[in-house]
Amino acid sequence: MMKSVQSRDGANVYALADHSGIHLPASCKQGACSACVCKVVDGHVKHTSDPACLTPKLKAEGYVAVCIANVSGDVTLQTHVGAKVRQARAEEADRMRHQHG
Ligand code: FES
Repeated sequence: MMKSVQSRDGANVYALADHSGIHLPASCKQGACSACVCKVVDGHVKHTSDPACLTPKLKAEGYVAVCIANVSGDVTLQTHVGAKVRQARAEEADRMRHQHG
């Protein structure tokens, strides 16, 4: 399902979605739990601080913790990808364990 909302640059993505009737999952609201994570399909958003729940690889792949990210121009996001991120992190941690253990 596609939903469009009007915004202005600098608006918090999570709050903007919420005010527009798009209720994304969230828990910590601090970039730590990955509940709110979305994937940028087009455009970009700006994290206001470094999200602890995302590895550099996940960030490079376009994942954003929208609770601590601001709108920056037109952007298209895929929502509800938190579970995917948690799985990718678990796999990455597993690989590390095998490399170092
Ligand atoms: S709500 Fe926890 S990372 Fe956004």
